[in-house]
Amino acid sequence: MSAKTLEEALRPLDRPGRVWSTGAYVTVDEGFLFAGVLSPEALLAFAVGGRREQGESLLEALRREGREEANVDLEPTDAAHTCFLMDGTAPERVVLPESMAPRPTLVWTGPIPFEGRYLDYLCVAWKSRFQGRPRPSSEIDRLLWIDAESLCRSHWDRARILGEPVAPGTPIKVTGTAARAATWLNMQQDKACPGVRDALSRARKILSRHGASPRLVKHSEKVTSVALALGRRLRATGANLDLPLLATAAMCHDVGRTHADPRVAAGLEHARASALILNSEGLDHLAPAVANHILPAIVNPGLRDDLLERVLFYADKVVGLEHMGIGARLDDFAARRPELTDEVDRTRDPLAKLQGHLASAAGLTTETLETLCYVAALSETVDPSG
Ligand SMILES: [Fe+2]
Repeated sequence: MSAKTLEEALRPLDRPGRVWSTGAYVTVDEGFLFAGVLSPEALLAFAVGGRREQGESLLEALRREGREEANVDLEPTDAAHTCFLMDGTAPERVVLPESMAPRPTLVWTGPIPFEGRYLDYLCVAWKSRFQGRPRPSSEIDRLLWIDAESLCRSHWDRARILGEPVAPGTPIKVTGTAARAATWLNMQQDKACPGVRDALSRARKILSRHGASPRLVKHSEKVTSVALALGRRLRATGANLDLPLLATAAMCHDVGRTHADPRVAAGLEHARASALILNSEGLDHLAPAVANHILPAIVNPGLRDDLLERVLFYADKVVGLEHMGIGARLDDFAARRPELTDEVDRTRDPLAKLQGHLASAAGLTTETLETLCYVAALSETVDPSG
C-alpha cells in the first residue's frame, strides 16, 4: 500500500468514460485565486487546472494547466488530510501515506456539464502556491480572488474580479472543483470526536499490551477506518450506533491473534480469545460482537440482530491489509485454508445479503458502499471524527 503512487491508489476509482482531471486552490493573501470565463448569463468560476492528457501524470497536468491558464508555475503543497467526495456522497476524510506527497486536498467524482452534455469526472485538487505573476491567458477571461472565510461560506458574490470589470449585476456561477471548495475547507476545520479519539487511544494500548504485531495493528486500523466510515453514514440516516464502542471493537477484534495468551497457544480459536481478552479489560459488553466476527458466524448460528456486530463483521470481510472487497477477501480465505473452501463458499450469499442490507440502511447503493469502504481503507490511521 505505502509503495503505491497516488495514481495507482486512485485507479480502482476509475470507470469507463471517466475523465481524469486536476484543480488547484491557488493561495494568495489569506484567500484563493480562481479562473473565470464570461458567458452571456454569468461569469463562470472554476479552479485553475484541467484534464490530464495522454502520458501525463496528474501533477504534470496541473502544472501545465497553471502555465496555460494563469501564467504561473504552480507549487502544490502537501495536505495532512484529503477530503474524498465521491459522486455527491458525504465527504470522507482520509490520511494518505506520506509517500504520496504532495498529497491532494480533495479528490472528487461527479458530473460536469460540457458542450451540452455531462461528463463523468474524477478530479484531484491541491492547495497550491505559485511562482510568477498571475494573469489570465487567452483561455481565461478574468481571474477572481476570494477570501478564505467567504469561500468557506460559499459567498461567491464577495469575490473580487481582477483586471477589467464585468457588467454590473453579472452573477458568478461556480462549477467543478471551485464549487466543492467549501466542503473541503469546512472538513479541514472539523474537530475530532473526543469519544472516538479516546476509544482509539485505549484500544491501541490494549493491542500493544497484548503484543500485537505491526501487521495486526495495520489490519485493525483498516477495519476500524472502514467500520467508522460506514458507522457515520448509518448514524446520518438515524441508526442508533455508538461510534466509540464500534471503534473499540474494531481495533480489538483480532487482539486474540497475538499468541501472548497461553489459551491461544493451546489452540483456542482467535475470536474467542479476543473476546476473553476484552472481558479481562472490562469490555464485556463488546465480547459477543468480537466473538462473532469470524466467517462461520454468518451462517451458523448466525449474527445477532445487532448493528455494531454486523458492521464489524462486514468491515473485517472487506479489508485485509488493504481494501479487497468481499469477493476477493473470501477467495483469499479459501486460498489460505483450502480445507475450508466449501465452508467459505457457503458464506458468499449471506455476506452479499449483509452488504446489501447495510448499504440500504446507510442510504447507499452497493457500489457506493464499496467505494466508501475503498476510500476509508486508503487511510494510514483512523480518522477520529465522529
Ligand atoms: Fe480481522
